[in-house]
Amino acid sequence: MILFALETSCDETSAAVVRDGRVLANVVSSQIKLHAEYGGVVPELAAREQLRNLAPVTRRALHEAQTTAAGLDAVAATRGPGLPGALMVGCKAAQALAFALRKPFLGIHHHEAHLYSPWIAGDPLSADLESFQPNISLIVSGGHTMLVHVEAELKHRLLGATLDDAAGECFDKVAKLIGLPYPGGPAMDRLAEGGNSKAFHFPRPMMDQPNDDFSFSGLKTAVRYFLRGHPEILDGAQRVRDLCASVQAAIVETLVNKPVRAARRLGVRWVTGSGGVTCNRALRKELAAACEQNALRLRLAEKSLCTDNAAMIGILAERKLAQGVSLTDVEAEIVPNWPMDQSPDLPGDAPRPHQSAINR
Ligand code: KG4
Ligand code: ZN
Repeated sequence: MILFALETSCDETSAAVVRDGRVLANVVSSQIKLHAEYGGVVPELAAREQLRNLAPVTRRALHEAQTTAAGLDAVAATRGPGLPGALMVGCKAAQALAFALRKPFLGIHHHEAHLYSPWIAGDPLSADLESFQPNISLIVSGGHTMLVHVEAELKHRLLGATLDDAAGECFDKVAKLIGLPYPGGPAMDRLAEGGNSKAFHFPRPMMDQPNDDFSFSGLKTAVRYFLRGHPEILDGAQRVRDLCASVQAAIVETLVNKPVRAARRLGVRWVTGSGGVTCNRALRKELAAACEQNALRLRLAEKSLCTDNAAMIGILAERKLAQGVSLTDVEAEIVPNWPMDQSPDLPGDAPRPHQSAINR
């Protein structure tokens, strides 16, 4: 089966073609430069840019996969959660394509797809789900920080999430206080490398609480007050590196501690991770060390698949189709606030008879 997938939930426009667990193409166009000027993602601009990028990204993915629209057997897209205007671009385009081709359509939950990105690996990329193991999955991006128990393939339970800012948001906001351009996470990662992580102590939010939730807004505030009291720190290159390393250590320690603790509590042997913040080198290193110490196995998404991509949407959609999950109506609405553990189908959203016939 050849499946075409679109991901447009935030500021990446991505199109992928997958066939029998193999990623034939995964084209990603990022809008980082566009939003950098504003210090964060501007929803209206994101949606317009999604529209602009959709056709070229689609054309390139089909070209790289050496196929055409007529060669597709199924279509999938991110249906939620995400920015409404951005989500609508990819989801509605994919639904129209499925309708025109009279092929099945599947609307995918963005975070459920993240759970499978650590299992996509190799060159060429393919799904390594034969090695799939029940795991505790950490999803950390600019918009989300969540911990999920993946009990079996296509079966998961949300354990906890951030109560306020996401970990990536914390990196970005602290970076802004330091005067670094958006998104500040990668720059902090680089600066932290040459810094002393014990130079300053910042709070490890909620780390000692017996739950699987996170909180990062207090850390950002702590850095703001700290800099108000010590503005001279920003004048010294080495002190800035020390500050970055110290803040990064506080974020990383919390992000490492919670999944390891959940895995031990639930008797799960594997930890996985994805989302933009999983690119952070200290996080990758510390997670590896903590897992080794606790006899846990670790599987982190490849850096190119940590951030949003349509390959993870396509791989999950293909597995779901193979397992006979019900299709999504080509007129179904996007679900911008789709909770992870809930069905997206709102009352009145059930497939209509004529649409199901077309989908078949
Ligand atoms: O997955 P992603 O593209 O999702 C969102 O669109 O939210 O993640 C972007 C986030 C940003 O907050 C960015 O600063 C952070 O991931 N990030 C990093 C690193 N690379 C990306 N944070 C820390 N260290 C990095 N190396
Ligand atoms: Zn994401």
